Amino acid sequence: MKKISLIGAGNIGGTLASIIAEKNLCEEILLVDILEGLAQGKAMDLSQSRAINGFSAKYIGTSNFRAIHNSQVIIVTAGVARKPGMTRDDLIEINFKVMKDIGSAIKTYSPNAFVICVTNPLDAMVWTLKKVSGLKKQMIVGMAGTLDSSRFRFFLSQELQISEKYIQTMVLGGHGDTMVPLLKYTTVSGIPLLELIEKKFISKSKVHEIIERTRNGGGEIVKLLKSSSAFYAPAISTIEIAESFLKNEKKLIPCSSYLEGEYGVKDLFVGIPVIIGKNGVERIVELKFDRDEKDNFNHSVRSVVELTKKCKKLLE
Ligand code: APR
Repeated sequence: MKKISLIGAGNIGGTLASIIAEKNLCEEILLVDILEGLAQGKAMDLSQSRAINGFSAKYIGTSNFRAIHNSQVIIVTAGVARKPGMTRDDLIEINFKVMKDIGSAIKTYSPNAFVICVTNPLDAMVWTLKKVSGLKKQMIVGMAGTLDSSRFRFFLSQELQISEKYIQTMVLGGHGDTMVPLLKYTTVSGIPLLELIEKKFISKSKVHEIIERTRNGGGEIVKLLKSSSAFYAPAISTIEIAESFLKNEKKLIPCSSYLEGEYGVKDLFVGIPVIIGKNGVERIVELKFDRDEKDNFNHSVRSVVELTKKCKKLLE
């Protein structure tokens, strides 16, 4: 029986639980949350939508980590989300402790699962989760690039007045203000965006404005919501990865993945293009950067190094 466990039943966890059933991705959806009653309440609420919605998955809510045994996929959204004025990096110490507890629970109860981490600061949290859980590098990724790319596509589509469905792009690097949207790899129905800039469909300065807006896309939403951070787009961007694993779809998508020398980076999780199939991360795609792209990517990597160093220290 296929089972997906959602650790963290807050805004993203609850949204994931709803989409997973509608997409028929598994038979059992487990919600786990430290806050007594939250996972149980959401599981009950979602179960009561089944008569009308018609999906077949069964929901279970608990605060006991033991229940995650035999999960095919585990999605980790547990921790604290940003409030206005905070950066993702401000969450590091508190969420580090959460990752430590969850990492050891995964190691004990479900060491063969494919794990997707969503908790911020993303690249450092997924690194911590890997170290504590002992998962193989193919079996754990962080969700960031699918969301950042989706935001970039939306903003471009608004400006170009072309459906985002036809816009392809890659946003790589760390999931923070230094993320790297790649213009060279941005196309609209196969037409390079750079050519559309030449043809004056959009100006270069507008594209740069959009890049900045993408970098601050999460912060813009936190400012509006005030007491929470974005959750609808983060949830569906996580499903994009989980679905590729569960259905062996072999999507080539950006994920924060463990590098051991690729891109000149070692022992770090950074957003890069990977192929996700039934074996998890089946292949890392190394792109040839031009000078500017390389500088931006390295700058982003440096900020991930700093955050990961803090986690390394906390682990000692
Ligand atoms: N174990 C299980 N659940 C926990 C733990 C823990 N140790 N610590 C906190 N939680 C739960 C909280 O009780 C809460 O219900 O994690 C849930 C987080 O939900 P929200 O606060 O609604 O946050 P959400 O918007 O879902 O974002 C979760 O994803 O995008 C990131 O920055 C975001 O780090 C944040 C995470």
